[in-house]
Amino acid sequence: MMNALTEPQSVVVLGGTSEIARAIVAALPATQLRRVVLAGRPSPALTEATAATAADLAAVGSSAQVEETAFDALDTDSHAAVLARLFEQDVDLVILAFGVLGDQQDFEDDPSEAVLAARVNYVGAVSAGLIIADLLKRQGHGTLVVLSSVAGLRARRSNFVYGSTKAGLDVFAQGLADSLVGTGAGVLVVRPGFVRTRMTEGLDEAPLAVSPEQVAQDTLKGLRKGAHTVYSPAAIGAVMAGLRSVPRPLFRKLPI
Ligand SMILES: NC(=O)c1ccc[n+]([C@@H]2O[C@H](COP(=O)([O-])OP(=O)(O)OC[C@H]3O[C@@H](n4cnc5c(N)ncnc54)[C@H](OP(=O)(O)O)[C@@H]3O)[C@@H](O)[C@H]2O)c1
Repeated sequence: MMNALTEPQSVVVLGGTSEIARAIVAALPATQLRRVVLAGRPSPALTEATAATAADLAAVGSSAQVEETAFDALDTDSHAAVLARLFEQDVDLVILAFGVLGDQQDFEDDPSEAVLAARVNYVGAVSAGLIIADLLKRQGHGTLVVLSSVAGLRARRSNFVYGSTKAGLDVFAQGLADSLVGTGAGVLVVRPGFVRTRMTEGLDEAPLAVSPEQVAQDTLKGLRKGAHTVYSPAAIGAVMAGLRSVPRPLFRKLPI
């Protein structure tokens, strides 16, 4: 169970190879950690991420057990059983990190690709999120961190399919947080801007781009404060507030 300083002992990552999620795990106070589960699609990358996380934790003196387990966001029929098994032991923190960015032009050329992205980013998260909320409620404690995105705050011509999946995810997660008030469980919605990970590799960097480590620090700050939403970097919250009020004919012409 988390101690008074909000230092989790048991962490589950959904999307176990996510560079942002792994940076969050690395930033947690290692001495408190007892168990880390990286859940994701079975692959050499997941096995490598599990071994690297175990080695990193051991290097800082942590005796945490690190394991991998199979989880596919698209296989919603399996979610209840997979998550129930993970919650057979106490879980303090779940990081919902799975997601695909895709390519707007590919989505327009082949709408079935867009549907697939929506199924991962939104449908998969609704399925896992509701099950996790129920399990956290039964425990009476624990936090779900949801990696949303500023892309969901206003549709951009250049990536509105991805943005719409994140808009759905964000509204879902905000509502889920409200539904948990008073239960001991909570949700923290993290809204990063452009983060330098393999997801954005090769793309032109957007203003206020950050590292996964910066997102991890902003997430930890939010967890410690008991915040319901954090931006990463914090300044992008103000930028998005401004952008949201730009009239559409003008917004459409912005090079973003
Ligand atoms: N990077 C950014 O600029 C940025 C900005 C805002 C928000 N975000 C969000 O932050 C989250 C993490 O992104 P990241 O930058 O850390 O990218 P990443 O390293 O590419 O992580 C994405 C994760 O999603 C997993 N995934 C994809 N499809 C899946 C499926 N069907 N079932 C289970 N897992 C699946 C990937 O697993 P595999 O290894 O199996 O592919 C990977 O673990 C994503 O939700 C992303 O949308 C990212």
